[in-house]
Amino acid sequence: MRAWCTKKAIFFIAVMIILLLLYNAAKTVKDSHQIISNHERVSSRKSVVELQTVVNSEVRGNVTSKDNIKYILQWTLPHNVPFVYMGKGREGFISRGCPFTNCFVTSDRNYLGDYTKFDVIAFAGPEVVRYNKNQLPQNRSPHQKYAFASIESSDNYPTCSNLLNGFFNWTWTYKLDSEIRWGYMVIRDKNKNIVGPNKEMHWLKLEDMEPVSEDLKQNLRTKTKAAAWFVSNCYSRSRRSTVAKKLDEELQNKYNLSVDVFGSCGQYSCSRDNDENCDNLIKKDYYFYLSFENSFSEDYVTEKLVRALNFNAVPIVYGGANYTRFMPDGIYLDARKMSIEELAAKMNELINDPEKYAEYFKWKNHYTYHGQHESVHTLPYCLFCTQLNNEEMVKNTTIYKDFKNWWTPPGRC
Ligand SMILES: *[C@@H]1O[C@H](CO)[C@@H](O)[C@H](O)[C@H]1NC(C)=O
Ligand SMILES: *[C@@H]1O[C@H](CO)[C@@H](O)[C@H](O)[C@H]1NC(C)=O
Ligand SMILES: *[C@@H]1O[C@H](CO)[C@@H](O)[C@H](O)[C@H]1NC(C)=O
Ligand SMILES: *[C@@H]1O[C@H](CO)[C@@H](O)[C@H](O)[C@H]1NC(C)=O
Ligand SMILES: *[C@@H]1O[C@H](CO)[C@@H](O)[C@H](O)[C@H]1NC(C)=O
Repeated sequence: MRAWCTKKAIFFIAVMIILLLLYNAAKTVKDSHQIISNHERVSSRKSVVELQTVVNSEVRGNVTSKDNIKYILQWTLPHNVPFVYMGKGREGFISRGCPFTNCFVTSDRNYLGDYTKFDVIAFAGPEVVRYNKNQLPQNRSPHQKYAFASIESSDNYPTCSNLLNGFFNWTWTYKLDSEIRWGYMVIRDKNKNIVGPNKEMHWLKLEDMEPVSEDLKQNLRTKTKAAAWFVSNCYSRSRRSTVAKKLDEELQNKYNLSVDVFGSCGQYSCSRDNDENCDNLIKKDYYFYLSFENSFSEDYVTEKLVRALNFNAVPIVYGGANYTRFMPDGIYLDARKMSIEELAAKMNELINDPEKYAEYFKWKNHYTYHGQHESVHTLPYCLFCTQLNNEEMVKNTTIYKDFKNWWTPPGRC
C-alpha cells in the first residue's frame, strides 16, 4: 500500500515535470515567433522608428511614445493630385523641412491593422464627391478626423447628395474658413506679418496709403498695350472666354485697344518654359491683366491674381469670390460688377491718365503678395501636419453637418 502510494506520487511528479517542460517549449516557440514578426514590423516601419529617435529619444522604449506619430490614411487614390504630392510615410514632411515632421502618410488601410486607428482619414474632394455609401469607410472611431481635401473649385466638383453631410470633421481647401488653409496666396503687411486673405480684412483705405514712388511711376510709363490674358483651358464653366472676346471687340471698336490672348486659346505666345519672359511682358507692356477664374466659387481666387499684382498690371477680376477678402478696394476692376462697355471705357480712361492709373499701385507701399509655397509655415502640406499637432484643434469635436451647402455653390445642383 505504501509502495503503491510512493509510485503514485512519483508518477504525479513526473507528469508535472513533463507538463512544465512542454509548456516552456511551447512558450519559447511562441516567443521566437513573436520576435520574428516584431522584427518585420520594425523594419517595415523604419521611418517611424527613426522619428522616435529624433523627436523623442528621451522616452524611447516608452510604449506611449508611438503616439507622437500622427497617422494619416489616404482613402482615395494615392497617385492622384493632390495626394500624390503628400509623399509616403514621413518623407513629404521631412523633405519639405516642415515645422512638424511627425506625421505618417499611407494609403494602406491595413497598415495599423484597422483603419479606425488612424488619426486622420483624408479624402480627395474631386473623387469623394462621386462616391456612393459603399465606397466610404464603414466603421469609424469618434476620435478620428475625417478630412476633405480640395484645391479644385467646388463649382467643378460639387456634391449634390446629402451623403457627406455630418461626415467630415476638417476641411483642407482654399475656402477661408477651412481648418487647414490650402489657398493660392499669402498676403503680408509691411512688417512681413501674414494678414490675409481672410474673411474679415482690415485694409488701409486707399486715401491713407502712401503715394506711389517716382521710380514705380517711371516703370509704369513703358506700358503701351491694354490687356493681356494667359490661358490654356479654352472652355470653362464660367464662360470667361466669351467675356474676354466681347471686351476685346469693345476695346477694338471704340478705342483701338485690345485684349491680347496668350497660349493655346489665343493668337499670341510667349515662352512658357521661361516663365519670366511672359511675366516681364506683362510688367513692361500691359496696363491690365485678366485674372479670370475658370469657375465661380466662394473664395476661389487663384495665382492669376498674384501674377497681375506682382507684375505691375491692374487685375481685371472675374470670379465667385468676395474680392475684398483678397485685395483693398480701388486697386482692381471687377468684370462682373460692370458692363463690358463700362469696363472698356474705364480701361481707356486709365490708360490715358497716367497719374490716375498709378494710384492703383499705392498698395505696394503696404502689402506684398506671395504664393503659398513661399515658406514652410504656409506650405499646405506642412500645415496639415502642424494642425495634427495642435492638441486643442484635434480634441475639439467639429462636424460639417451641412457639408453640401458649405461646399457646393448655391443653385449648382
Ligand atoms: C511614458 O509615457 C507616459 C505618458 O506620456 C509618461 O507619463 C511617462 O513618464 C513616460 N515614461 C518614461 C520612462 O518616459
Ligand atoms: C464682402 O466681404 C466684406 C468683408 O467681410 C463684407 O463687408 C461684404 O458685405 C461682403 N460683400 C458681399 C457682397 O458679400
Ligand atoms: C491703332 O493702334 C495702332 C498701334 O497699336 C496704330 O498703329 C494705329 O494707327 C491705330 N489706329 C488708329 C485708327 O488710330
Ligand atoms: C472649436 O470649434 C469651435 C466651432 O466648431 C470653434 O468656434 C472653436 O474656436 C474651436 N476651438 C479651438 C480651440 O480651435
Ligand atoms: C467627427 O465627426 C463624426 C461624425 O459626425 C463625429 O461623430 C465625431 O465626434 C467627430 N470627431 C471629432 C474628433 O471631431
